[in-house]
Amino acid sequence: MSALYCHRPIAYAGGVSSLILQIAAEVIAKSSRDNPADSGLREALKSRRLPTPEQQREISRAVFNYFRWFGWLDAAHPLPGQIKHASELAQAFKERPESFSDDKLVERVATEWVRDQMEISPAWARAIQAEPKLWLRARPGQGAALCEKLGAAKLEKTLLSDAIHYKGEEDLFRRPEFHAGEFEIQDIASQAVGWLCAPEPGETWWDACAGEGGKTMHLSDLMQNKGLIWASDRAEWRLKNLKRRAARAKVFNFRSESWDGGAKLPTKTKFDGILVDAPCSGVGTWQRNPHARWTTTLPDVTELGAVQLQLLNHVAGSLKPGGKLIYSVCTLTRAETTEVVEGFSKAHPELQPMELPAILSGGLPTAATKTIWPQDCGGNGMFVTAWRRA
Ligand SMILES: C[S@@+](CC[C@H](N)C(=O)[O-])C[C@H]1O[C@@H](n2cnc3c(N)ncnc32)[C@H](O)[C@@H]1O
Repeated sequence: MSALYCHRPIAYAGGVSSLILQIAAEVIAKSSRDNPADSGLREALKSRRLPTPEQQREISRAVFNYFRWFGWLDAAHPLPGQIKHASELAQAFKERPESFSDDKLVERVATEWVRDQMEISPAWARAIQAEPKLWLRARPGQGAALCEKLGAAKLEKTLLSDAIHYKGEEDLFRRPEFHAGEFEIQDIASQAVGWLCAPEPGETWWDACAGEGGKTMHLSDLMQNKGLIWASDRAEWRLKNLKRRAARAKVFNFRSESWDGGAKLPTKTKFDGILVDAPCSGVGTWQRNPHARWTTTLPDVTELGAVQLQLLNHVAGSLKPGGKLIYSVCTLTRAETTEVVEGFSKAHPELQPMELPAILSGGLPTAATKTIWPQDCGGNGMFVTAWRRA
């Protein structure tokens, strides 16, 4: 933490009322590695009766700005003063980004161990200091019609079809279009993974770490609801949510099975494609989730890299000849990306690196490995690699 904190009179846009400060300070004070700020925030907002949604947004903004600008704050000062200072810094960065030097940004956006795991470029540092965008995925070909219905939305035609940057303030979970399954809230980098898988209608796929089904449902849309997707995860509650979401979206060509990631597989089926969207440290989400910058450790990253390698090793035998294996993680550390790829490739000469489709690459062809950067796509950072069984 820097000693550059200076206690100035507070005058950031909109002002920070004492109620906002009090609730934000309570959430921050209770946040820890075992009690992440985003879940603490959800709890606090649920248990308090706040008059307006705008106040809820202000509290969220105050908490996230605190963790986003934590590297500039001085812990010796009272927490409310630090929260106000973080909000001033966020406002100043929004209005005059050039007044923040590259060197200071690179030095302060993350802790020391991160430097050994990835290059912290000024572009990445600037990207993760900005407020994140909200991305929706419209059903295939329905983006323009959905934008018209939602009003404040903007269709990002230049990046990925069906990806919409939502700029409004409405609670989208209350929209009839959401309940009718007309869109999902899904980051643009996660949407890119579906496109990089490029499944064909009628194929058989395995979404091995399906979670709540964000990518399962996208694969299904790309397969025009034809063929079959096995969706597995070790968390039963996530698969339950997957089924609920799929029903809303009228996605039917999947079956879900519990799988703990071990050598005993949920099926003997051989697949045209397998997606391992593996558990990871989430460094690629540090713009959206800045608390994790200060709680994630080097041992976390190396342990998760080992888990990812094991998951890939376990699924590899389930590919048909010619089948493709896609490995994706929303992180950017070497231990969870290139080192896993090297270890896996060495152990599996029967699989060859496979070129990924040229999406989000400005029309340039991509290689077998693709890093999606927040500064390029306006969403999370993501690493994706593909192999094909000979
Ligand atoms: C990155 S998330 C998946 C997100 C999901 N694919 C989506 O697009 O919504 C990783 C998932 O891996 C699951 N997981 C963690 N460890 C696992 C293991 N050892 N075996 C199988 N799944 C695991 C977690 O429960 C989590 O749902």
